[in-house]
Amino acid sequence: MIVAVDGTLASGKGTIARALAAWLGVPHLDTGALYRATALSALTAGVRLEDEAALAELAGCLDVEAFEDRDLRTAAVGQAASKVAALPAVRAALVSFQRNFAERPGGAVLDGRDIGTVICPTADVKLWVDADIAERARRRRKELDAAGQPISQDKMVAELTERDERDRSRSVAPMQKAKDAVLIDTTDLCIDAAVDKARSVITAVLDARSRHL
Ligand code: C5P
Repeated sequence: MIVAVDGTLASGKGTIARALAAWLGVPHLDTGALYRATALSALTAGVRLEDEAALAELAGCLDVEAFEDRDLRTAAVGQAASKVAALPAVRAALVSFQRNFAERPGGAVLDGRDIGTVICPTADVKLWVDADIAERARRRRKELDAAGQPISQDKMVAELTERDERDRSRSVAPMQKAKDAVLIDTTDLCIDAAVDKARSVITAVLDARSRHL
């Protein structure tokens, strides 16, 4: 079974995707980490974030396991990731890795922005996870605070708005809800309740499938 979990930043999609993968007993791929690792490689190597060919080359030979999560999850790397993710050649360089991951025997859970629309348009289950921007900003600030990178609520809302806008308006694979994705609004949900909701969507799909066998 392939499960596509797309949605906005700090909506809870990563947490939901990890929990679903553990529940289903399949591997999970955080596709945002691929764009973050590409951006961090570029920043480290002094490659300009506009140099599409050089960035695509970095993306094409990425070893995402070689990066520490805390280095990938800084605000600066997130902003740079959304810039490199807008470049068609970078996205093209990362497509086959993601599709191969999804097509493993037994299935997989992938989370990102374009899994249900571009990477796995025929995924068995598609979720679109979103939450109110003030709540997303509050959650992201908590993460950054814990990492020793405090930021004000206003600045965080402005950053998220800029990121969302860039992700939604790019010419290739813009962030959007697939028509057949089920919306999970996590604004007023704790993690357990959001995961329960996602599980019930999958259970319903599996039940419907077994009725048609
Ligand atoms: O999800 P995360 O915040 O780690 O993603 C970082 C950036 O990578 C996003 O802002 C987005 O621009 C990009 N991304 C993407 N497509 C994906 C996953 C992430 O464009 N499938």
